[in-house]
Amino acid sequence: MNDKELVAHYAAQQVLDGMLVGLGTGSTANYFIAELARRVKDDALNIQVASSSVISTLKAQEQGLSIVSIEHLERLDLYVDGADEITPDLVLLKGRGSDLVREKLMARAAERFLVIADQSKLVSRIGEKFSIPIEVPPFAWRLVKRSLEALGGHGDLRPNANKDGFWITSHGSLVLDMTFPESMGNERLNEALNSTPGVVEHGIFHGLASVVYVADNGQVVEKR
Ligand code: 5RP
Repeated sequence: MNDKELVAHYAAQQVLDGMLVGLGTGSTANYFIAELARRVKDDALNIQVASSSVISTLKAQEQGLSIVSIEHLERLDLYVDGADEITPDLVLLKGRGSDLVREKLMARAAERFLVIADQSKLVSRIGEKFSIPIEVPPFAWRLVKRSLEALGGHGDLRPNANKDGFWITSHGSLVLDMTFPESMGNERLNEALNSTPGVVEHGIFHGLASVVYVADNGQVVEKR
C-alpha cells in the first residue's frame, strides 16, 4: 500500500454510520472513495455521500455509493480531500484539478474537514511549489489579472492541456495561475484575494482544515 492509500484508509476509519460525507477530488481522494465503498459493502456501513467534482461523482457511482447532489446540501458531517500544499499552520493550497469552488464550499459546510496527504505536500508557505489557482468569469479575466498584478502578482491563464485555448472549469470559469511575493504572507494574500472583485474563488484554504493526516513511509501522523 502506498502512502496516499494508507492515509486514505486511515481517514475512512473515521466515517460512522449515518454520516453525510463529502468526497474530494484527486488521486488521494480516489483511494478514500474506494475504501469507503469497500466499508459500505463489507462493514454494512450506512452513509450518504456528496461529491466535489464530476470525476469523483462518477467514481462514487461506479462503486455503488449513494450520492446526494450538491444542490441539496445544507451541511456535511465530514469532508475528506487531498491538497497540493500544506503549511505548518494547516493553510492549504488546492485546485490544481480546478474544482476548487465546490471543494471550498464543501470544506466550509463540513463539521470536520479531514485533509489526507503524503509527505510531499508539506511546505513552509503557500506558493512554495505551485502557483495559486484563481477562478474568474471569462468576461473579467483581464480586469482581475490587472488587480492581481497591482498586488505584486505574476501569472497567466491556465492553458488547456489537450487543445488550443484556455482551461475552462466545469462551471465555465477560466483559471489564472498566479505567483505573489513571499513577503505578502498566507493570511494577507488570502484576504486580498477574498476581497478582489471578479474573483469567483481561489485555491488558498485558510482556517478550514480540522486535521491533516500525513503519511510518511508507512506511518500516519495527525497534524492539528
Ligand atoms: C484538486 C485538489 C487535489 O486535492 C489536489 O490536487 C491533490 O491531488 P492528489 O491527491 O492527486 O495529489 O485540490 O482540486
